[in-house]
Amino acid sequence: MGEVDLAFIQDEAHRPKLSITESDGIPVIDLSILNTINEGHYDSIKELVTQIGDACREWGFFQVINHGVPTDLLNRAFSASKQFFSLAIEEKRKVCRDEVNPLGYYDTEHTKNVRDWKEVFDFTVENPTFIPASPELGDQQLQELRNQWPKFPPELRETCEEYVVELEKLSYKLLELISMSLGLPAKRFNDFFKNQTSFVRLNHYPPCPAPELALGVGRHKDAGALTVLLQDEVGGLDVKRKRDGEWYRVKPITDSFIVNVGDIIQVWSNERYESVEHRVSVKSGKERFSIPFFFNPAHDAMVKPLDELTDDQNLPKYREYNWGKFFKTRKLSNFKKLNLENIQIQHFKIAN
Ligand code: OGA
Ligand code: NI
Repeated sequence: MGEVDLAFIQDEAHRPKLSITESDGIPVIDLSILNTINEGHYDSIKELVTQIGDACREWGFFQVINHGVPTDLLNRAFSASKQFFSLAIEEKRKVCRDEVNPLGYYDTEHTKNVRDWKEVFDFTVENPTFIPASPELGDQQLQELRNQWPKFPPELRETCEEYVVELEKLSYKLLELISMSLGLPAKRFNDFFKNQTSFVRLNHYPPCPAPELALGVGRHKDAGALTVLLQDEVGGLDVKRKRDGEWYRVKPITDSFIVNVGDIIQVWSNERYESVEHRVSVKSGKERFSIPFFFNPAHDAMVKPLDELTDDQNLPKYREYNWGKFFKTRKLSNFKKLNLENIQIQHFKIAN
């Protein structure tokens, strides 16, 4: 990724300003109470639930500290990821994604038809994971996805497998807190995640000679339910603040996770919470690593506003859609630069 190919150049309207406000605004939420929970602590949980609800409403983003995932595991995950990406390209391409298997290494992802300045390695939480074989609504056939692991570094596989176990636990805790913050039973959403299609991405953003023209990931919203992101100390994640539509850089906090609500929670909650636009800026002198965990329901989950959150005064804002078909369509349009409008939840919006 030496010179900047035209494919990476953002339209003028979407190029990043190099001077950006680093924000303290994204709420930092301390989860330590969850590790010590016993009778008598219910008030603190109530307070925590309120904090989570406020953060989801105001920002759609928050950071969590004292989350219970061991620091040593976070360090090992970064270290294995760095070693993998430092391999020769021929070596990385041995575990390359292709049109049949969407898992593994690739460096040609596009967001909104502009190429991202990054290389990634994807693996799923469930192995195997089932998704629809085609985006066609009538086609019931399923595709079985299996992880592919590189030979080097040898510990990558084990570290990643350990990582997903911990991240899955944390994601369920966050999901339950979010459910409670909507006034629902803690486990209201849990059934949707049996046979989940969650996946993890190791991201490497190499130094970019033209950080004012390209982006590590173009502006987008996450399509799934919840994203739990680990980033290194370099920084580069920009979030569009709901209040004024301005971009804010999320200030890295060591050993924290950044959590954001995805499109599915926007639909389930009938827009009480919104999925917020974000992007990744790159730097000329520094590479950056991040590891998002995309917490997604099963392929057969039908997504629609929850009955408990709709009534005559509050009509459903979305038609029901099938998550697997949505996901499959997205994957295809990301794989190649397709001259199609990428699928969005907006397509299911009801004009009330
Ligand atoms: C993503 C994303 C942010 C980051 O992959 O969807 O928003 O900091 N990544 O890598
Ligand atoms: Ni994202």
